[in-house]
Amino acid sequence: MDSSLLSLRCATIFLIFCMPLTNAQGGSWKLLVKNAGIASMHTAVTHFGTVVLLDRTDVGPSQINLPNGTCRDDPNDLTSTHDCTAHSVLFTPGTNTIRPLTISTDTWCSSGQFFPNGTLVQTGGDFDGNLKIRYFSPCVRSGTCDWVEATDQQLQEGRWYATNHLLPDGRQIIVGGRGVYTTEFIPANGQAPTQLPFLHQTDDFQHDNYYPFVHLIPDGNLFIFANRDSILYNYITNTVVRQFDTIPGEPRNYPSAGSSVLLPLTASDDFQSASVLVCGGAQFGAFANFPLAFAVASQTCGRIDVITPNTTWEMETMPMPRTMGDMVLLPSGDVLIINGAQNGCSGWGFANNASLSPVLYQPNGLAGQRFTTLTATTIARVYHSTANLLPDARVLVAGSNTHQFYTFSGDFPTELRLEAFYPPYLSPSFAADKPRLFNPLTSVRYNTSFRLQVTIQNPPQLNMEVNMVSAPFTTHSFSQGQRLLKLKVVSQAFITATNRYIISAIAPPNPVVAPPAYYMVFVVNEGSPSGAAWIRVSH
Ligand SMILES: *[C@@H]1O[C@H](CO)[C@@H](O)[C@H](O)[C@H]1NC(C)=O
Ligand SMILES: *[C@@H]1O[C@H](CO)[C@@H](O)[C@H](O)[C@H]1NC(C)=O
Ligand SMILES: *[C@@H]1O[C@H](CO)[C@@H](O)[C@H](O)[C@H]1NC(C)=O
Ligand SMILES: *[C@@H]1O[C@H](CO)[C@@H](O)[C@H](O)[C@H]1NC(C)=O
Ligand SMILES: *[C@@H]1O[C@H](CO)[C@@H](O)[C@H](O)[C@H]1NC(C)=O
Repeated sequence: MDSSLLSLRCATIFLIFCMPLTNAQGGSWKLLVKNAGIASMHTAVTHFGTVVLLDRTDVGPSQINLPNGTCRDDPNDLTSTHDCTAHSVLFTPGTNTIRPLTISTDTWCSSGQFFPNGTLVQTGGDFDGNLKIRYFSPCVRSGTCDWVEATDQQLQEGRWYATNHLLPDGRQIIVGGRGVYTTEFIPANGQAPTQLPFLHQTDDFQHDNYYPFVHLIPDGNLFIFANRDSILYNYITNTVVRQFDTIPGEPRNYPSAGSSVLLPLTASDDFQSASVLVCGGAQFGAFANFPLAFAVASQTCGRIDVITPNTTWEMETMPMPRTMGDMVLLPSGDVLIINGAQNGCSGWGFANNASLSPVLYQPNGLAGQRFTTLTATTIARVYHSTANLLPDARVLVAGSNTHQFYTFSGDFPTELRLEAFYPPYLSPSFAADKPRLFNPLTSVRYNTSFRLQVTIQNPPQLNMEVNMVSAPFTTHSFSQGQRLLKLKVVSQAFITATNRYIISAIAPPNPVVAPPAYYMVFVVNEGSPSGAAWIRVSH
């Protein structure tokens, strides 16, 4: 049984208090940094718990200088041919400090993914960044690690608005991009790019196939969704093994900008089943305000079982419309839908009516009762904003820039503030159920058992969950490589001498279920997560 926090609490203890939602049940917000120096277009959490924030380089001067008085000279830059400001920074949660990082080539609308050893690989962009491969090897918090832009290798095709995904063999696949209907791998191993006609077929007048939603599913195929269509793709044999029904409703990818997650995979069925959720989008023609300016965004989600034959989309209605939302898998196994706008679509000035209220989607709830509207923020996060799970189970919200350059006047000024959303499970009223994790491991091998130790104030549920979440690369309403696994828990024992619970769990069975990487591993009790241990899963 999945005892997610809200349904359990609402059903049993706090029945009469559940409506209207109080802050305790609807989560809360906290301003972390008033000026991060940049508006983050791309965000990724490293296994040191630090966060890489990345914008474009040709956005004009940012509000933070490059390290040590260095400058960047680029005669072709759109705005600043001599630029002494940084366009990427490293954020450290907890101390809430910002350190400037050095990036030289244009990362505008690029893509990325962590390698198995925790190095962030970041690819493409516009102009001089179109073919670039960049690496960020994270370091301890006091370290000086920085971007390294490869000069001895580059992408085979220029990629702007592509999607990366880590594969079971530790390579990354890069799918599509603007006007690019191919895939390629990093490392390349001498293979030429592979044609994928599906990417061409889903391109339309306003595109709607940028940043395809890519999920690695447990049968080894990639689920690829673009515009309103989706396939299962065997990237090894380059064959489309299944074509799904067209999703009802609006286009879902950039610029219509819905979002998508692979719903949690679970040991309870040996990781054999998999469903994809796609939420939001925009009306065709809202892009560039042509012919529909600020049309009401999509209010639907589609959910599909991607393993069972002959399945189709099960449609659900969100509490409010949303374009440019982000979907975050929470340690509890629920999905947070956050950020975006209720009218319009992606692009500079093509949206209004910001979606200030996040929504919780509980995958195991009864159909028709899966959504809960949570506490609203006061800060609009529209185009070019991000949301990422932090290892302390908060959600970091960054960015928003609906202008070509940094613009601090008018509607939707460029947003440099960082906020954290505290999901309902972090409310003080659940503190007594929250596990506190000790002695975290740093690595496990596939299909082996491992132990975690926790203390908890209240007697916990009989079988606590051990849930493992990847660290995705988030940009443009999609978190590339995001996945959550509910691991098999074999035993849970209370040790009187130490006052601790020892929980024994089994690591994922194989790299198709969980590609080799660092994951955040949470112990979850009554829907309330511990802080995470970063654990590297490998052979
Ligand atoms: C900046 O200077 C400090 C002090 O000399 C040095 O420790 C640091 O590594 C430098 N940072 C960069 C990015 O060059
Ligand atoms: C991580 O792996 C990549 C790819 O194999 C390699 O290029 C990089 O040097 C490694 N980084 C570290 C810190 O070992
Ligand atoms: C699935 O659809 C195919 C093609 O329409 C059909 O031949 C097959 O019998 C169906 N399978 C099931 C389990 O319904
Ligand atoms: C904003 O969106 C809400 C929900 O769809 C709608 O009721 C409201 O009319 C919209 N406001 C504007 C100004 O478009
Ligand atoms: C995992 O380990 C168990 C017990 O050692 C074994 O029975 C099973 O076949 C293994 N599964 C995989 C996928 O290797």
